[in-house]
Amino acid sequence: MREPARLVVLVSGSGSNLQALLDACADPGYGARVVAVGADRDGIAGLDRAAASGVPTFVDAVKAYPTRDDWDRALTEHVAKYEPDLVISAGFLKLVGERFLAAFGDRYINTHNSLLPAFPGMHGPRDALAYGVKVAGATLFFVDAGVDTGPIIAQVAVPVLAEDSEETLTERIKQAERRQLVDAVGRLVREGWTINERKVTIP
Ligand code: GRF
Repeated sequence: MREPARLVVLVSGSGSNLQALLDACADPGYGARVVAVGADRDGIAGLDRAAASGVPTFVDAVKAYPTRDDWDRALTEHVAKYEPDLVISAGFLKLVGERFLAAFGDRYINTHNSLLPAFPGMHGPRDALAYGVKVAGATLFFVDAGVDTGPIIAQVAVPVLAEDSEETLTERIKQAERRQLVDAVGRLVREGWTINERKVTIP
């Protein structure tokens, strides 16, 4: 892998995971830099955070393209332009298509706010609370064609407290999730990885 490794980060919202990566990349020893940030919508804090760090941004809204396939092609081309070693979905609320996965499926990772395979989808913390689990957390994984189904890189657990609301649990998970993302991305770019069936190994 190149040194520093080139990261493209995809966001749809507040971008706190992106910010954690930007902060980590300020240390040359981390081994990576964010070369671009992409979004599926305008007017989000994630894009402001990128701009504040001098990182180029691009926006590909699904509705700006005639078909979902056209959107997937545009997103793939925009990401490819930055020649990423790793593409990171950090709160990116879109499922990419076949073309994107053909181009980056070996290096496209996503952070999700539940302990997969429990509670995939858009409402991990809410679904965990409703189910009554006592432990929740976050999962970092390589994206495949399913919804939150790909090979798992790392998981971190946090307690669910009796007085938790969706907001308090979400925030507790996000704090652990950011640390995990920074730690795992650094290890991936510095040490590489192998995927054997579903088993991800960082040497
Ligand atoms: C993360 O908790 C992620 O798991 C979920 O959305 C959140 C993104 O937060 N899908 P942020 O935009 O990085 O602050």
